Amino acid sequence: MWDAGEYLKYSDERSRPFADLMAQVHRAEARLIADLGCGTGYLTRSLCERWPSARVVGVDNSPEMLAQTVPLVIPGRLRFVQEDLTGWSSGELVDLIITNAALQWVSDHDSVLPRLVGMLAPGGTLAVQMPNRFQTPSQAAIEETVTDHRWSSSLTGVGLHRESVMPISWYVHRLHDLGFSVNAWETTYIHVLTGENPVLRWLQGTALRPLLERVGPDQEGEFLRALGNRLAAAYPARGAVTLFPMPRLFFVATER
Ligand SMILES: C[S@@+](CC[C@H](N)C(=O)[O-])C[C@H]1O[C@@H](n2cnc3c(N)ncnc32)[C@H](O)[C@@H]1O
Repeated sequence: MWDAGEYLKYSDERSRPFADLMAQVHRAEARLIADLGCGTGYLTRSLCERWPSARVVGVDNSPEMLAQTVPLVIPGRLRFVQEDLTGWSSGELVDLIITNAALQWVSDHDSVLPRLVGMLAPGGTLAVQMPNRFQTPSQAAIEETVTDHRWSSSLTGVGLHRESVMPISWYVHRLHDLGFSVNAWETTYIHVLTGENPVLRWLQGTALRPLLERVGPDQEGEFLRALGNRLAAAYPARGAVTLFPMPRLFFVATER
């Protein structure tokens, strides 16, 4: 279960990769655009401003996140649907598919990519961004905490893991083989965070959702304290500031 309030706490930091991704989408025109894993929809709405004659659909499987999209709807231009992105079908060809910070939640990218590009119109574009922090101290802290006997039986194998995102070269080769030109890059954002244990707060808005759902309200406090201690040691504050380096992977694929 997603918590839009938690997720939006760092909305400025979370918006920038979307802007950096969209800066590499060089399309003057689009008739139909899909934003898969659109979340609260506020970034989806910006697509209507950039492509004023396009129809835009946001797809997400979380009713909690989609509840935020209700005031954003523009009849005939911008709509949102509750569906799993792996099963969603537009019913017509799509010019641009965007999926920002969502595909890491879906397994079997080997099957997902051909399915997504199969929905594109000729010359269509797929633009993807994923966090790629699965080899960093934040993931190690989560994995170590999960092994604690108090909750290991309910948490082992739950949530994001080291193989949630493949190496960037894998995506480039796969899409090239599918007939696409690919512009791919990786970068690390250094988030400058303040407040008490901000890395824990950041992760509470995203990666920890499935774990917190599973650990249950009785043990949530203990689990967060144990993980928070590890994260505070891995990302020590200097004065009021904690730096949280966040690697991210991007690709924009256009049919050759
Ligand atoms: C980190 S949020 C990103 C939201 C938005 N794209 C943004 O950049 O702000 C990930 C979103 O992906 C959605 N999501 C995860 N798995 C999904 C799936 N299988 N089908 C549809 N949406 C999914 C979640 O519900 C959540 O809203």
